[in-house]
Amino acid sequence: MKLCMIGTGYVGLVSGVCFSDLGNQVICVDKDLVKINKLQNGIIPIYEPGLDELVKRNIKNKRLSFSNDLKDSIKKSDIIFICVGTPTKKGGSSADLRQIYGVAKDLSKSLNKFKIIITKSTVPVTTGDEIEKILLTKNSKNKFAVVSNPEFLREGEAIRDFVYPDRIIVGSNDKKSNKILKNLYSPLIAKGAKYVNTSRRAAELIKYASNAFLATKITFINEIANLCEKTNINVDDISIGMGLDQRIGSRFLRAGPAYGGSCFPKDTKAIISTADKFKTNLSIIKSVIKSNKDRSNLLLKRIYGILNNKIKNKKISFLGVTFKANTDDMRDSSSLKMIPELSRKGAKVQYYDPTGFKEEFKNYKNVRNAKSISNCLEKSNLVIIHTEWNDFKSLDFKRLVKNKKIIIFDMRNLYSPQEMIKKNLKYFSVGRGFK
Ligand code: UDX
Repeated sequence: MKLCMIGTGYVGLVSGVCFSDLGNQVICVDKDLVKINKLQNGIIPIYEPGLDELVKRNIKNKRLSFSNDLKDSIKKSDIIFICVGTPTKKGGSSADLRQIYGVAKDLSKSLNKFKIIITKSTVPVTTGDEIEKILLTKNSKNKFAVVSNPEFLREGEAIRDFVYPDRIIVGSNDKKSNKILKNLYSPLIAKGAKYVNTSRRAAELIKYASNAFLATKITFINEIANLCEKTNINVDDISIGMGLDQRIGSRFLRAGPAYGGSCFPKDTKAIISTADKFKTNLSIIKSVIKSNKDRSNLLLKRIYGILNNKIKNKKISFLGVTFKANTDDMRDSSSLKMIPELSRKGAKVQYYDPTGFKEEFKNYKNVRNAKSISNCLEKSNLVIIHTEWNDFKSLDFKRLVKNKKIIIFDMRNLYSPQEMIKKNLKYFSVGRGFK
């Protein structure tokens, strides 16, 4: 099939490349010419394990191409995926849909034959209706179908999530489009993916409801972890015990820092904004947002407690600063709250991240990027394990820190407290009986 992905950000690029790998002819379009030139030469603008290999293979097989000519790319394709960003509106909480509607206007001028127009970007309920209205200003109804097909790709796991999705949601009442899309996804359905056909509005809401629910699950276990700390219980036992109940499920029950990333913070705010528009109170999601906001302050307070409130001139080492492992993405990472605050209090912060230097900290004079784990940890007063990269899972702290007093605050519970005590290390983690 002939596909056009509009927008080569995370969603568009990963989905486009994976669709081409399934044998489709895919054009990925972006107005950023520099990006397009780089992609044509196999240079990938995002960090996603395995993606560069797939890009090179499919360019070579002539199934994948990159262009900044939107009109031409639309004309050559039968299925158009809108994959542009829907960030939070500046100074507000709803999704900024200017890019989506801009693309819809461009599309309305280029429908030379029947095309399926699909929103893959996360868009609020009724956005599909609006796109349809825009297309109808210049085209008759039989020239297009507007469908919602949300993505559920996790950064760092995106290729696996594309190839082995739990479900494929297609929101459309148009029979012809449903048949074509079921066919497009047939290689994944054959491998066991569930294909669910819903109304367009339902598909739009499924995406927000899923992300809000996952954010709730994480926030829930983080609050339970707070209780575990006061009652000398290991929260990992709680996650296992709860997770074995199939109605609950074991995933997304890892306690840790505040959740971050490009989706959960943005989508929880946006669904509340949609609910406000329809005069509905989503009180649970509102408290999730508040609890997650409080979480970074709570962990900061724990740091102050661990250091007996003597922060000035303390060498604090962060292992990992992105919002989670296997990504270079800093968006809404809890380190963005914690590191500046520690720096303001006079700490000397050094960080090591497998994905390198971060612009976000360049203006803080006591924040330094270390080039290696050993450089980051040497003579440190406090080691903070902030993300769960494999690189951080079996470190010899005594050899690396070279300090008599080694203090570790493991925000991802990567190590066993018993093992750390055996090694004579002062070790703190999350939700494991901290007093
Ligand atoms: C998320 C959704 O999972 C994906 O389906 C959606 O389409 C995009 O948003 P992503 O933002 O890449 O994916 O990251 P995810 O792996 O979901 O983690 C989000 C946040 O939750 C991270 O900060 C992570 O550290 C945190 N998290 C996740 C936990 O704290 N505990 C968990 O058990 C799981």
